[in-house]
Amino acid sequence: MTLTVTEAIRARRSTRAFLPTQVPKALLRDILETARLAPSNSNRQPWLVHVVTGDTLARLKAATAAEEARRFACGERQYGARGIAREDGEGRLRYVYNNHQCFGAPAVMFFFAEPGEGLSQWADLGIFLQTVLLLLTEAWLGSIAQISWSVFNTTVKQVLGVPDRLVLYCGLSIGHPDPADPINAIIADRAELAEFASFHG
Ligand SMILES: Cc1cc2nc3c(=O)[nH]c(=O)nc-3n(C[C@H](O)[C@H](O)[C@H](O)COP(=O)(O)O)c2cc1C
Repeated sequence: MTLTVTEAIRARRSTRAFLPTQVPKALLRDILETARLAPSNSNRQPWLVHVVTGDTLARLKAATAAEEARRFACGERQYGARGIAREDGEGRLRYVYNNHQCFGAPAVMFFFAEPGEGLSQWADLGIFLQTVLLLLTEAWLGSIAQISWSVFNTTVKQVLGVPDRLVLYCGLSIGHPDPADPINAIIADRAELAEFASFHG
């Protein structure tokens, strides 16, 4: 069954627990082949995409885990000094840690752009991101955009050999959703139309 655009928009939601099942690289390539047709200001196409799977993804996850452990130790000392309960910090860290383990996803895309190109370039990246999200939905794959990768942008660039000057917009973890995990059943609220749209004339 092929989804219409409307159906894909309605069906898409963020996945925060993935099965380890691999995603064919050819499929990810095909999705980017189509997504490159996304519109952009003056047809600048400012997006730069790195697709990460396999050994490289394992290395990236290990590198961020090591850095996160260092940050956790540092945070723990600070929470301790302020008398904040340890469990709070651990819960927060588990959530953040899951983000950087891609919630178990076997593939992740990183979206970069050159710095200093102004506001419209970030809108262009958002349009491109949503195009990729909908194509992934059409392919019955789960995904989640992750701005939280910006915390580890230096590590991401080092592992992938990306020039330091490029700005990391976000990561996008991709895979098959784990149907047994209740986190994937969460449906985020949306504002009603009347709260953000006005009709004139
Ligand atoms: C650019 C962008 C960055 C996001 N970053 C994160 C993130 O770092 N961690 C996370 O858990 N969710 C992240 N999200 C997911 C949003 O929280 C989610 O899209 C929103 O709550 C609506 O839920 P839905 O995607 O399930 O419809 C991000 C979404 C977008 C579009």
